[in-house]
Amino acid sequence: MLEELAKIRENALARLKEVKSEAELNELNIEILGRNGALTGILRSMGKLSPEERAELGKSANAAKQALAEAFGARKAAMVELAEKRRNEKEALDVTLPGIQTVPLGKLNPLTVVYREIRDALIGLGFTTFEGPEIEYDDYNFTKLNLPLDHPARDMQDTFYIDDKTLLRTHTSPCEARALMTMKPPFRLVIPGRVFRVDEPDASHSPVFMQIEGLVVDKDLTLADLKGTIDTFVKAVFGENVKSRLRPSYFPFTEPSAEVDISCTICGGKGCSSCKGTGWMEIMGCGITNPHEIENCGLDPKEWKAFAFGVGVDRVACLKYGINDVRLIYEGDARFLKQL
Ligand code: DAH
Repeated sequence: MLEELAKIRENALARLKEVKSEAELNELNIEILGRNGALTGILRSMGKLSPEERAELGKSANAAKQALAEAFGARKAAMVELAEKRRNEKEALDVTLPGIQTVPLGKLNPLTVVYREIRDALIGLGFTTFEGPEIEYDDYNFTKLNLPLDHPARDMQDTFYIDDKTLLRTHTSPCEARALMTMKPPFRLVIPGRVFRVDEPDASHSPVFMQIEGLVVDKDLTLADLKGTIDTFVKAVFGENVKSRLRPSYFPFTEPSAEVDISCTICGGKGCSSCKGTGWMEIMGCGITNPHEIENCGLDPKEWKAFAFGVGVDRVACLKYGINDVRLIYEGDARFLKQL
């Protein structure tokens, strides 16, 4: 019986090592130490033994029982501790980790993108930014720019008048007058801003839109400087393959004046329905600043030359992104912006 007892003890300790869960541990406990367990069986059968044998076996059996109970207890404690450690690891929260992005990010409006592209290309050529007010004097918006009161070209731009002297500027060109009157030449300016015209909104018109004016004042300037400047930002916005050309035109504030065309962004210049078969698309006006304007603003036109251009940012954005309705640009619908 002593031998059997030793076997039970050894066997139980060996199996204890293999136990994988608390449930298995409990089962083994019952199997060995429970009321009908193996060890209990031995203790029960001791009645048949002689008092000496009984004393000896009893001692060993109690020692085995105690040792096993301790081993079971230790194993159980280790299991509980391990389970807790695992749970803690799983639930651990590192508050220094970056958060999970759940707020949807917005997108830049195409006007902003195009403005920044033009601005940055020009800054690369030594330009700085300049701004003027949206509510402007008639004098700066028209008269100083060589458009006196009775000038027929005033009708080219339908104007929101506030009173007979003030209006909502119809273009960014009055900032040319402000710069010429206040800054010390030579200088190169890129002038962004909102402009206003009396127009019913439709696919190609908005009563408020955005222009960028460029103005360069220096001693010796030629049409080639103007063309090079324009070509630089056309390529920055539309890509290296897009060409630009100047086509003669008329503006009171420039002489000579030109429209800038770029090679069609849809067909690449072969001719398609978007460019009406010409291979070219008009994007803006420009020219050598009229000496009258320079003089009206207090500089000597014999000493100072200037060139200027004015571009509708929405028009450029429509061409760049293939947008067929300017209203989309101004409505700020996130579903539209996401597609760009
Ligand atoms: N201000 C003109 C417009 O709104 C555009 C323009 C043309 C500006 C020629 C210029 C320029 O500076 O030289 O239609």
